[in-house]
Amino acid sequence: MKNNLKLHDKTFKPFIEYDKIEKAIDEVAAKINKDYADSEEVPVLLCVLNGSILFTAELMKRLEFKCEIISIKLSSYSGTRSTGQVREVMGMTGSVEGKEVIIVEDIVDSGRTILDLKRILDEKGAKNSKVCTMLLKPASYKEDIPIDYVAMEIPDDFIVGFGLDYDELGRNYKDIYVLDTNMKYFILFGPPGAGKGTQAAAMAERFNLCHTSTGDLLRGEMAKGTELGLKAKALIEAGSLVPDEVVEGMIENRFNTVKGVDGFLLDGFPRTIAQAEALDKMLYKTKNKVTAVVSLMIPDEMIKERIKHRAAIEGRADDANDETIANRIATYHEKTEPLIDYYRNAGVYFEIDGTGTIEEVRERIAELCVSL
Ligand code: AP5
Ligand code: MG
Repeated sequence: MKNNLKLHDKTFKPFIEYDKIEKAIDEVAAKINKDYADSEEVPVLLCVLNGSILFTAELMKRLEFKCEIISIKLSSYSGTRSTGQVREVMGMTGSVEGKEVIIVEDIVDSGRTILDLKRILDEKGAKNSKVCTMLLKPASYKEDIPIDYVAMEIPDDFIVGFGLDYDELGRNYKDIYVLDTNMKYFILFGPPGAGKGTQAAAMAERFNLCHTSTGDLLRGEMAKGTELGLKAKALIEAGSLVPDEVVEGMIENRFNTVKGVDGFLLDGFPRTIAQAEALDKMLYKTKNKVTAVVSLMIPDEMIKERIKHRAAIEGRADDANDETIANRIATYHEKTEPLIDYYRNAGVYFEIDGTGTIEEVRERIAELCVSL
């Protein structure tokens, strides 16, 4: 089966393979053939555009009695949520007056569309109508109207493929994909001054992630003068790491309290193998794992230049003297760089050229993340 699909800002994972779809269409077509085998009627198939184009074509090929086809376009979705309102967007392309109609739908969800179609068909004088859908979501179907022919039932998830779209993309895929609702855990990795904090905002906004910088959290504690802040101050100002358990606790607290995001963007964590192992354990509890480590690569000389430049603007205590900066760089090489192999072995490590303008680096990161 295929890999994940990336459509606009969302990831979809393989859900129903084409072979299974074909088989389900064979079965539903056989039922319809049986019902119409001895009928005098020449029913009209009403293809509900755009979603049911593929299904209608596949279904029609299998029908063994005389039938006509017309189409109608309605819209009931905006993004991934049903708006609950159905509009007639494009009129019907042929007459249904006095005829028997088989409404052909790609998916029946809340049933609002079916309700509106039945009303429209009544208004236009159809003799009677039946409903045939490729997919039915029994958990969300709220109407009393019977769905006469159902190829497949699915849970209440957002899907694309085989005619179904997410903001107009995805209709062309012959397999069906489901929205990947797993949380994403990105690590923005790199030496001091690599541009982690600078790049984090755009990345977090684009992918709806919670930017979590352990450095910023620790500086917040220092500014508030908390016990933790006081303990961290001396270590940070010496360019050393604070104890693993302190930052691990901060991260776990963020995971447990932040809601409404599609994932987390970790900046400055993990910084030791022990922290990486602790992170794996935290994620394992919720059946998650690190999505990708985005490593910003810049040479040591550039680190110093950038930090000196920042010292003049932000006045961070650990940017203030050469000795602290040198110690931070040495700490990175000694304690943090071993994580490269750790994540390379896990198959989630990706290097990005961190030199060039902020916009250039941002584009490189976005390109990578969209391709994952
Ligand atoms: P932390 O705050 O994480 O510092 P760091 O890792 O040393 O990283 P920086 O924040 O200095 O760099 P950055 O990559 O964010 O660069 P920025 O975007 O600002 O940690 C501080 C301390 O807290 C640690 O030393 C440790 O003591 C403690 N700590 C934190 N996490 C810990 C953990 N997990 N375990 C233990 N201890 C922990 O960019 C730098 C400058 O360059 C900016 O002025 C920016 O404008 C500029 N710039 C960025 N990109 C570009 C570009 N492309 N072109 C030109 N300029 C650029
Ligand atoms: Mg930073």
